Amino acid sequence: MAPGSADFVVVANRLPVDQVIGPGGETGWKRSPGGLVTALEPLLRQQRGAWIGWPGIAQDDTAAVDEPVFLDGIEMRPVRLDGTDVAQYYEGFSNATLWPLYHDAIVRPEYHRPWWDRYVAVNRRFAQATAATAAPGATVWVQDYQLQLVPRMLRELRPDVTIGFFMHIPFPPVELFMQLPWRTELIEGLLGADLVGFHLPGGAQNFMILARKLLAAEVSRGTVGVRGRFGTVRTASHTVKVGAFPISIDAAALDQAARAREVRRRARELRADLGNPGKILLGVDRLDYTKGIDVRLRAFAELLAEDRVDPADTVLIQLATPSRERVDSYRLLRNDIERQVGRINGEFGRVAHPVVSYLHRAVPQHELIAYYAAADVMLVTALRDGMNLVAKEYVACRGDLGGALVLSEFTGAAAELRQAYLVNPHDLDDVKDAMAAALSQSPEQGRLRMRALRRQVLTHDVNRWARAFLAALGSVRGA
Ligand code: ADP
Ligand code: G6P
Repeated sequence: MAPGSADFVVVANRLPVDQVIGPGGETGWKRSPGGLVTALEPLLRQQRGAWIGWPGIAQDDTAAVDEPVFLDGIEMRPVRLDGTDVAQYYEGFSNATLWPLYHDAIVRPEYHRPWWDRYVAVNRRFAQATAATAAPGATVWVQDYQLQLVPRMLRELRPDVTIGFFMHIPFPPVELFMQLPWRTELIEGLLGADLVGFHLPGGAQNFMILARKLLAAEVSRGTVGVRGRFGTVRTASHTVKVGAFPISIDAAALDQAARAREVRRRARELRADLGNPGKILLGVDRLDYTKGIDVRLRAFAELLAEDRVDPADTVLIQLATPSRERVDSYRLLRNDIERQVGRINGEFGRVAHPVVSYLHRAVPQHELIAYYAAADVMLVTALRDGMNLVAKEYVACRGDLGGALVLSEFTGAAAELRQAYLVNPHDLDDVKDAMAAALSQSPEQGRLRMRALRRQVLTHDVNRWARAFLAALGSVRGA
């Protein structure tokens, strides 16, 4: 295959923008949500590179090759998906098989052979687009669970390029992964990379155990970690490095943005709009069953019922971005959450003063920052989350050292944010106690915790994450 001209190529299921077709058939572009986008955008601006991904809409002619689009200085190369691709590769295998399986099977994963076939076909399309875009000897960075077969496919097409893979979601324990009818193929797919990265050492270790178990690969017992030490898996053709690289955010930019007078004014306005309650609790999530939105609502309802929280003086704001809306489990979740919100407001709210203020939409970033600045207690109660960037964003926005973070132990972020109010989201009393403690902390206690949290977040930003990963990848070829 003829090589392309990009020296650095990011490959992800989604482009960082969505394509929108207007009523007259005209094409436009709109920013798309997601932690991955938030994390990689600053990086691509600094480098000459290309981003390969799906523009977010179903299109009929998948063989058509779109001209690259340049947006905000980033070259975008769209990969087209048709309606069946979206149903079987994206909603099906990616989000009704892999997503629940990798998140502790909170929802039962579904195994369907046509979904798998489509996953293989779409991964091949991504690999081919990448092979046609990457310059000789380029560095290619493949992202996330939707594209686990791309590293091997790309290596076969273009043995000259260096391939990194990063998994943004948890990588499950062996017992769970072994359910997958296509378990060997997925591990082989990932082993096409030169470096495979995970958020946590535990995920890296799970992967290495599976490579040994399923492929009888020779696996080193080296400590897995970010400090230059890696595990390795030897395959017939090459050695694969495996490591842990916890992702982060553009912390300095958020810190700066949150200090703007306009943000502080908007935060006061939000509070006033809510009737100036004494305390504001906040949840910010994609509407996903992994996020434990139901957990925090249940805990809040019990605290209200037990008079441990005053409904006249407290508001819980829940911002929920619509997500994967055609997947059954997401539809059910939305009904459950909205019923729960209705019940709590019916029981504890007053006319024009709900105790839970719920928005089913994404809000603009400057607005989100104002919510973070206004919130006395941030609630992150995920049942399982690879990292959870919301927790880090909240901390980055609290240069005033105000606020408190209630954080699930089952997030990647909990490994770094040890001074948060850490909770087991399966233990409702624990969640309630942490919420009550966070609501009643003294300003001095709060400042101590927030200072320590900020030290971690501000010194471990997304640039450091990307540099660590790319440095490890760069050292592979010389190894
Ligand atoms: P995930 O990647 O699973 O969605 P993360 O917490 O890691 O979870 O990242 C979510 C990203 O989406 C964060 O950058 C967060 O600011 C953004 N986000 C989530 N909900 C909203 C919302 N309602 N409005 C705007 N941005 C949101
Ligand atoms: C998580 C995944 C990303 C994904 C994002 C949004 O962060 O790790 O790969 O892009 O959720 O989900 P969506 O299905 O809308 O792309």
